[in-house]
Order: sequence, then C-alpha cells, then structure tokens
Amino acid sequence: MSPSKSPSNHIPVMLEEVMAALAVQAGGRYVDCTVGGGGHALEILERSYPGGQLLGIDADPDAIKAAQKKLEGHKHSTLLVNDNFVNLQTTCIKYDFFPVHGILFDLGLSSLQLNGSGRGFSFQNDAPLDMRFNPGQGITAADIINTSSEAELARLIQNYGEESRSRQIASLIVRERPVTSTLHLARIVEKAVGPRTTRIHPATKTFQALRIAVNLELENLEVALKQAIELLGFDGRLVVLSYHSLEDRIVKRFMQREARGCICPPATPVCVCGHKPRLKLIRRHVITPAEDEVRANPRSRSAKLRIAQRLFEKDDCVDTEELETLWAETKARAWKRPALLRKLEMVFAMA
Ligand SMILES: C[S@@+](CC[C@H](N)C(=O)[O-])C[C@H]1O[C@@H](n2cnc3c(N)ncnc32)[C@H](O)[C@@H]1O
Repeated sequence: MSPSKSPSNHIPVMLEEVMAALAVQAGGRYVDCTVGGGGHALEILERSYPGGQLLGIDADPDAIKAAQKKLEGHKHSTLLVNDNFVNLQTTCIKYDFFPVHGILFDLGLSSLQLNGSGRGFSFQNDAPLDMRFNPGQGITAADIINTSSEAELARLIQNYGEESRSRQIASLIVRERPVTSTLHLARIVEKAVGPRTTRIHPATKTFQALRIAVNLELENLEVALKQAIELLGFDGRLVVLSYHSLEDRIVKRFMQREARGCICPPATPVCVCGHKPRLKLIRRHVITPAEDEVRANPRSRSAKLRIAQRLFEKDDCVDTEELETLWAETKARAWKRPALLRKLEMVFAMA
C-alpha cells in the first residue's frame, strides 16, 4: 500500500504542502484537530521522530478507531481523543498538551465517512439522512428536514449551500415530507432544480448545507480557531485546509484580523482597541493543490490551504535583560516534558 493511503482509502490532501506549512520538526508537539483516518497524523509523527508527540482529535468515533489502527506504530507518542474540536482548549489542558508547535485543521469529511459510514453524507448510495459526525450527539439531517418550516429550510439551503434555487427546493421538500433517505432527498432536489447540466450533481449544495447545519460546522470552526491561537508556542503554526468558501472565508478573516494591529473602525481618531497582532501570515494568498494532485485525487479539487504563525509581543513579556534570559530558558524547557510522554503512553493504553 502506498504510504499516503490510509486503510479507509482516504488520501491525505496536499500532504507535502501541509507538512511544510506546519514546519514539522523532530521533537515537536502537534495537534491534529481532525485526525480522520490518520493520514496527515502519520506523516507528522514520522517527520517529528524522534521525540515528536501528536494529539489527534475527531468527533467521529469510527475515525478514532481508524486512526488508532493507522498510528499503531507510533502509539507511545500519540494521544487520540474522541471529541469535537470546539473543546480544543479544554482537551489540550486536560492532557497537559500545550504549548504546541503546530495545529492542523483538515475540515469537512473523510472518504471513510462519505463512502462507507452509512450515515447519509452522500447521495451516491441510499442511507438514512443522519449526517452527524458523532452519531451519538445532536439532531440529524432528517430532524431538520422534517421539522423546519419552509422558510427556515430555504434560508438554511441558501446560507449554508449558497444555492440560488433554495426556495424551490424547500417548497418541494415540504410537500414531500417525511423525507428520511438520501436518495429521496436527492430526487426531490433534482426535481426542484431541473436535471444536471454540469459535472456537479444538483443535490451537492443542499447536502452540504444540511451537513453544515447538523454539525454546527461554521460556529465550531470560529470558536476553535480562537482557542488554537492560545495553544501555540513560539513561532507555532496554524494550518487550515478548507473545502468550501464559507469555511475559507472564516479562516481568512480570522487570520487577517489576528495579523493586524489596531482594529478600530476607520473613523476612530485615536486607537482605543489596543489590539496587537498575534499571527503572521505565512502566505498572504490561499494555496491550492497542484493539477497532478487533483487528477490523482479529485476530492482535493476544492481544497484551500491557509497558514499563519504565532507572534508574541516581546515587549509585553520582558523588559529587562534578566527577564529576557529567563524567558529564553523557559521557552527551551517548555518543549521537553518527559512526564508528558509517560502520561501519553498511559492514556493510549487505556483507549
Ligand atoms: C477531511 S477528514 C480528515 C482526514 C485526515 N486529515 C486524514 O489525513 O486522514 C475530516 C475529519 O474531521 C472530523 N471533524 C469535522 N468536524 C469536526 C469537529 N468539529 N470536531 C472534531 N472532528 C471534526 C470529521 O469527523 C473527519 O473525520
């Protein structure tokens, strides 16, 4: 099997670019907030050997099982946690896993979820309309479809799917309720918007909208990005791969705002916000996959990579030479914590 292919057949997207973005180094400590099948995680562990440590988070218990299998060879330096990344900070504090050298978000769905979960993410096979990353939590897509008003459905499909024919779709859904299966929903959308005119299936946007709503994807991303910044150590990297414009817009705005000094409204005569840049943009523009990769892995076609590096305000922390030395020592010590490694081994053994 090719090293980049996971047992779930999920090919990690922009693998080389992501590793370069994280600036993975031996002995480094990394958080993969969307560990999935463990493709990126495995590469991080291999490149941070010896001494590297990885905390992998995923909301989907099946993803954690797949990652556990994939990362078996690195189990003494890996901690896997089945949780939502909206709890990123609590998780890192709980396991004493901070500060870190890099944090990765590879948003959206894995191929395992799309093709083999039976949870209704895809309209290629018939399945119940569930769409929860964690099947033990929250409401399903069927709950939303069958209980929302027509106006609410139209708004959701418009806002989260950027679907211009959202009103026609919502109206037909309401007429055909109850709608409980993927193929039924896909047929309704096709009927509402007319037959396919491009390579993209007409139900793609509606399915995306429901998945975003079910998993509170945009809300959780906004919260997690704010937490991520607090966990990064000196020069730590924040790396985000997103797959649709709504996610990318959130990431872009967040990074740009955190890279700025004053964020007072333009008309304010004197700065009152006191905002200081906490991130440096590593690339001002988004990075997209090479043509070869898109050909080999069509799932990567919509990927957008953004990278930022943690900045600290030196003057906020030190004002004398003595303090500067102390700060340098603390910084050097903070990366090496043998007690943490022992803790990781114990937790992995219990998982
Ligand atoms: C694109 S896949 C990651 C694939 C992974 N990078 C690899 O190489 O195998 C995205 C994963 O993120 C998880 N996920 C999405 N939103 C999440 C959230 N809010 N909290 C935790 N996991 C999430 C999904 O369950 C899915 O397994």
